[in-house]
Amino acid sequence: MSAGFTFDVTANPSPASAERRAEILANPGFGQFMTDHMIEATWRVDEGWSSGRGTPYGQISMEPAAAVLHYAQEVFEGLKAYRHADGSIWTFRPEMNAARLQRSAARLALPELPSEIFLHSLEVLVGLDRDWVPAFGDGEKSLYLRPFLFATSAYIGLRPSHEVRYMCIASPAASIFTGGLRPISLWISHYARAGAGGTGAAKCGGNYASALAGQIEGQRNGCDQAVFLDSSTRTYLDELGGMNVFFVTKDGRLVTPELTGTILEGITRDSILKLAGEFGLVAQERQVPIAEWQEGVASGDILEVFACGTAAIVTPIGELRWDGGLAPSTAGDHGGPVTNGIRERLLGIQQGRSEDTYGWMTRLL
Ligand code: PLP
Ligand code: COI
Repeated sequence: MSAGFTFDVTANPSPASAERRAEILANPGFGQFMTDHMIEATWRVDEGWSSGRGTPYGQISMEPAAAVLHYAQEVFEGLKAYRHADGSIWTFRPEMNAARLQRSAARLALPELPSEIFLHSLEVLVGLDRDWVPAFGDGEKSLYLRPFLFATSAYIGLRPSHEVRYMCIASPAASIFTGGLRPISLWISHYARAGAGGTGAAKCGGNYASALAGQIEGQRNGCDQAVFLDSSTRTYLDELGGMNVFFVTKDGRLVTPELTGTILEGITRDSILKLAGEFGLVAQERQVPIAEWQEGVASGDILEVFACGTAAIVTPIGELRWDGGLAPSTAGDHGGPVTNGIRERLLGIQQGRSEDTYGWMTRLL
């Protein structure tokens, strides 16, 4: 039962000093520094959810036989908290993250975390670490929230864990890419990230581990990131290791690969599809042959390509490279006008500078 579920709070007796926090917030990078607190709750097969707490950020213990360490029974989420001009703190479409965590959990045979517990945990953590939410007007900075569920049963036989832990940690974030906002180059990975019937649509750690070899391959070939194709035909575009992809076409379409079960159902992706009309574009979800990109850049049919996600926000994509070929960038030094227009509109809504026409923002504090 989730009604009235509480998190008992123990404040960190030795949080980062105000000076240290200011130093970190001046230059947070992405994901390098953790805040002073974390959230935990436990699920047991015969009891459901209990033991909610907010505690000082620190090490956790579990048995070496814990199932997550062997069978990767784990799922996670990512969303951000934004400080608005009046000091209030908001987050973007958190009910979508709560629902996706439930879908991911179901795929990984983990228990469902009720949405009310999920949302309440964000309020508690951001309440404890409110001073870590970057100031209004400080570029794209926000507080990245990372909720996750993992299997802690100590049992080496393979079965769904009888004990699962929910945690949420937070980390101040600027751009996920070094060098700020600039077009990123992509390498078409030889490796697949996900396959039909697999876990591609779940936000589970294993998908990210499987994308790393492609990322290394991409970096060895001078690219920032890898892009993955469908595993069965290697003909269609799927997504990046941590971002969805869009094209802007000459005939006024905003095109993104359809949800086939192998890509993540991105919340930024869904939001951008809904914003397309504001830019006079027709949103289109369909299979996207990689050849369309390779040829469309040369023919002028593709005007812009960009990646999107919570961490990436909207990031222009430049050159596409593969074994033996290259499609040049259409992004210039800073990305095209649609890419930047959508980025600005989305960030404007998130930061409270632009009208929240769709009711996407939820106040946390
Ligand atoms: N695709 C993958 C594989 C991701 O990890 C992410 C990041 O969360 C996305 C897409 C974008 O999803 P969202 O917009 O919900 O952050
Ligand atoms: C996010 O954008 O929230 C993600 O989880 C992507 C991750 C690679 C940082």
